[in-house]
Amino acid sequence: MFLYSIDVFPKFQGRGVGAALIEELKRLAAHRNCSEIFVLTNENNPAANRLYQKTGGIRENPDDVMYVYPL
Ligand SMILES: CC(C)(COP(=O)(O)OP(=O)(O)OC[C@H]1O[C@@H](n2cnc3c(N)ncnc32)[C@H](O)[C@@H]1OP(=O)(O)O)[C@@H](O)C(=O)NCCC(=O)NCCS
Repeated sequence: MFLYSIDVFPKFQGRGVGAALIEELKRLAAHRNCSEIFVLTNENNPAANRLYQKTGGIRENPDDVMYVYPL
């Protein structure tokens, strides 16, 4: 399962909504026999990094680099 994007409206952030959404996605993905969930983020997004770590995400390859080909 590719978690493309997760966003909580600013006024509701820091209340556990993001963690609850990920826990529900984990439940849905397991129910659909997905082997894992993956998500991309940036070093300079502490909220996202903390959210993914807190909900059990494992940073498998710290060396990953993304390339984009503008067309
Ligand atoms: C990332 C995001 C979805 C987190 O949602 P949220 O509802 O605020 O997350 P939660 O309340 O469940 O908090 C999860 C953890 O992140 C931490 N956290 C939340 N905002 C934080 C911030 N600005 N800086 C550092 N940690 C933060 C919380 O403290 C909590 O950790 P803790 O329990 O150890 O204290 C939200 O900040 C957001 O919508 N950001 C803008 C969009 C974005 O960057 N999405 C991710 C793209 S990869």
